[in-house]
Amino acid sequence: MHRKAAAILQIFREQDGFVSGEHLSRELGVSRTAIWKHISAIRGAGYHIEALPSKGYRLLSSPDTLSAEEIKGKLNNGIIGTDLVHFTVTASTNVEASRLAANGAVEGTVITAEEQSRGKGRLGRTWSSPPGANLYCSIILRPRIKPFEAPQLTFLSAVATARAIALSSGLKPEIKWPNDVLITGKKVAGLLNEMSAETDRINFVILGIGVNLNMTAEQFPDDLRHPATSLFIETGVKVSRAYFTALLLNELDRLYSGFLDSGFTGVRQEWMEHCNARGREVVVSNNGTADIRGLFAGIDNDGALLLQQHNGVIERILSGDVRVL
Ligand code: BTN
Repeated sequence: MHRKAAAILQIFREQDGFVSGEHLSRELGVSRTAIWKHISAIRGAGYHIEALPSKGYRLLSSPDTLSAEEIKGKLNNGIIGTDLVHFTVTASTNVEASRLAANGAVEGTVITAEEQSRGKGRLGRTWSSPPGANLYCSIILRPRIKPFEAPQLTFLSAVATARAIALSSGLKPEIKWPNDVLITGKKVAGLLNEMSAETDRINFVILGIGVNLNMTAEQFPDDLRHPATSLFIETGVKVSRAYFTALLLNELDRLYSGFLDSGFTGVRQEWMEHCNARGREVVVSNNGTADIRGLFAGIDNDGALLLQQHNGVIERILSGDVRVL
């Protein structure tokens, strides 16, 4: 959106009533005709604006998009959201984020999209990303931690996602190791973090977050390996995508500041409180190798699952599917 059009929207939000064309033209230093053209463009972007010759213009409703205009004003002004980049459609916000990060984008840059044509899931899978239904975003971080500690940030994004779901819906999400967010056993959000690093130093980490918000049951692909759901399916209520996104980014910001100050301990503890298998007997299956059974004892600093076996020995599990017995 044009800078002046964004400034007009900002004025509408601050005024909460009619704003005269004359006032807008004075504030922005442009002609009344130019104001009228910007208003047309704003309408074209889905905003509903009333115009009365005697009173001026008034914002009646905003579209539910993830555009910078819709999200910026709802953020805490911390590290996350320093810069916001929005796409109507892109292959994958993670791919865009990596490209921007490699070109020097600042820490906290957030990339959102209305639709992904090639949304990426874990283990080379695809992530269903229909237009206007859900949240697809990627966040660029540049933490001064060791590359092997980077998985800690995936746990951090899982906790932020669980918090945002609980706050917006009142539901009680659970996290399944390594980082699926579930509601009543069905997957509602997925996380895909990617990293660029040298031996001892991280260049950047991309936190990719997909949350099924307003998707209907018919919109899910038939061939899903595990049952999936959306907040709409669970509550029957559509959630404002911009509101949810800002909520999530604000939670992420709080957690990330805490993480930079005090490390992984707080995140690990909250993650364990959300974990569906905490202290439970589980079976871990891993493509072809024999299933391992034990007590879910916790997670290690590199994200490994700590499985306590019957003889007391703790096994470190790096990948696999965990089933609670
Ligand atoms: C998973 O398989 O559970 C991870 C899914 C991650 C999806 C999100 S949507 C935003 C970001 N961009 C992508 O292409 N993938 C992640």
